[in-house]
This record gives sequence, structure tokens and C-alpha cells, in this order.
Amino acid sequence: MSSLAIAEKHLQQKGYLDVEVDPTLDLFEEINRLKKEKNAIILAHYYQEPDIQDIADYIGDSLGLSQQAAATNADMIVFAGVHFMAETAKMLSPDKKVLLPDLKAGCSLADSCPPDVFRKFKEKYADHIVVSYINCTAELKTLTDICCTSTNALQIIESIPKDQPIIFAPDVNLGHYLVKKTGRDMVLWNGSCMVHEIFSNEKITKLMIRHPEAKFIAHPECEAHLLEKADFIGSTTGLLKYTIQSDADTFIVATEPGIIHQMQKSSPDKTFIPAPPNNTCACNECPHMKLNTLEKLYTAIKYEQPEINLPQWVIDEGRASIDRMLEISAKAGL
Ligand code: 13P
Ligand code: SF4
Repeated sequence: MSSLAIAEKHLQQKGYLDVEVDPTLDLFEEINRLKKEKNAIILAHYYQEPDIQDIADYIGDSLGLSQQAAATNADMIVFAGVHFMAETAKMLSPDKKVLLPDLKAGCSLADSCPPDVFRKFKEKYADHIVVSYINCTAELKTLTDICCTSTNALQIIESIPKDQPIIFAPDVNLGHYLVKKTGRDMVLWNGSCMVHEIFSNEKITKLMIRHPEAKFIAHPECEAHLLEKADFIGSTTGLLKYTIQSDADTFIVATEPGIIHQMQKSSPDKTFIPAPPNNTCACNECPHMKLNTLEKLYTAIKYEQPEINLPQWVIDEGRASIDRMLEISAKAGL
């Protein structure tokens, strides 16, 4: 059996192509060469490791990544992110080959809302429309009227007539934040992100006392008691822009620390302190995002696997919720 055939067999178990990569290869050079040869584009989320961010054609938040996936002329999209992001790209560009370097790069938030359970939940609220955070499975999107991301969630909710009741899924923390900001009484699904839920209030308070000049900035997936303390709340792109525009020179950052790579590149003289979790680790990395590596990115683009494929009915029934989100975002200038 060839090494590729063995690797493909392992793909089922491991989630990535387990092919030995020549350690003398310059992976940056090889990936750039393959990208040109195959007319591929690399889309990376800010939570990816620095090397992946540095080789990506586009780095961004969930909204920016969806907009890129919808607009690209490439034949192949290599998605350095997690499963729901690559699925979204496939829904938006069904004729393109979409690769995810490690199929096991899932998402605790997406997993916290199983479609079958949600379907029954939804039946109890027949007159409600469903707004889902894009961090959900492709199948959940088939049960969704409009998707949103942390960048456009406010505009999406505000675009819905005030007398129209809403179910918001799956992130309860973003949901509470939106209820507070819009004054809308939405039905919330009780899901959450493992990364944004384990920040330590006590350790963050101590850091704020030790660095009184620092701005405390947080992603809206964080719990309400942390958001109450924040000087600024925003999506990853929003947080990055805030650090660039702010006069402050120190920031305590309550989101996945991968974003600090771009913050530090944009503002080399500023100091960024990752908000600590309530365990013994110093930072709070997303174990799913960090499954992707430069080696797996290289083997994915070289062997054109692992590929994301979706049943046609999922694309047909799920895509409208993403299209609506993109339309509303475009109207809002996002
Ligand atoms: P954004 O980058 O869209 O803010 O989303 C954060 C996140 O948790 C992605 O998994
Ligand atoms: Fe999912 Fe949270 Fe990881 Fe984002 S950071 S991929 S929401 S588990």
C-alpha cells in the first residue's frame, strides 16, 4: 500500500493526512508554490497559530472570512479555522473544493446545539424566527432564518421588526449581551464557548489592579460579569481595531490569544496581556483551532484532502440564512 493510501486510511481515524513531511522542506515556499499551481486561497481565522496567519491570503473574523469565501475566484479554498467555518465556505461556494487541514477541528459552541434537539425546541415557539450565531453546524443553519456573527449581530437583530419574536442560538452569552443592547426579549438557547467561559474573574481583577492604565477588552462570547467590567466589547476584528485606534498602551485581552499576534504586529510598541483562565494555564487557547498546523496545511493543499462535502439538501436549505446575513451586513456597510 502506498504511503498516501495508508494516510488516507488514517484520515478516517485521525482527521488529517498522516503523511511524513520532509523536515528540510521550506514549508512557506512549498505552500506558496502549491497555492499558485492549484489556484488556491488560504483563509485563516485570527485564532490560528502565527505561522498560519503569516502565510494566509486573508486573515479575519467570521464575517470577513464568509465574505471572502463568497467572493473568491480561486478553485480551492484551504480553510485554516474550524469545521463550521469551512462548512460555511462550502455552502457559499459549493462548486469549489474546500479543505480543512484537520477535520477534528470542531467547536464546543457548535456542539452545544445538536440540530435534532434544537428542532424540537423550535417547535415550541412556532411564531418565532431563528437567528443563529454562525458558530453552529451546517445542519443547524437549515433550521435558521438569519445567521449572524459577533461583528453584525446587533445590526441583524435590529433589522427584524420589533413585534417579531426571536429565538437566538446557540451562544447564551452573546444572546444576553444582545438582549441588553437591544432591549429585545429573545428566547435564548443555552450554549457556550469553552474558551470564553473559563476566564478567571479573580485573576482578571488582580491584573486590572496591577495595571490600572490597561484597557480591559472582551469578546461578547464572554460571560456577563466579565463584559460588565470591559472598556470595550467586540468581535476579534473589533478588538484588533480598538487596540490600533486607542491611545492606551496596555490591554488585557479576553478572547483566544491567537489574535494577539495581529495586535502585536499592528502595534509593536503596545503591551498585550492575555486574560488568564481559572486553571493553571497562563493563557486560554482554543484546542480546536490549534489542531491546525503548518504541516497539516501543507499536506492538505498538496493532496487536496481532507475535503469538506455537504449533502445537497443542507446547502439548499442552509445557505439562505447566510445570504440574508451577508445582505444585511452589506446594507449596514460592514
Ligand atoms: P469572531 O472572530 O467572528 O469574533 O468569532 C470568534 C470565534 O470564537 C470564532 O470561533
Ligand atoms: Fe468554538 Fe470557542 Fe473555539 Fe471559537 S474559540 S472555535 S467558539 S470553541
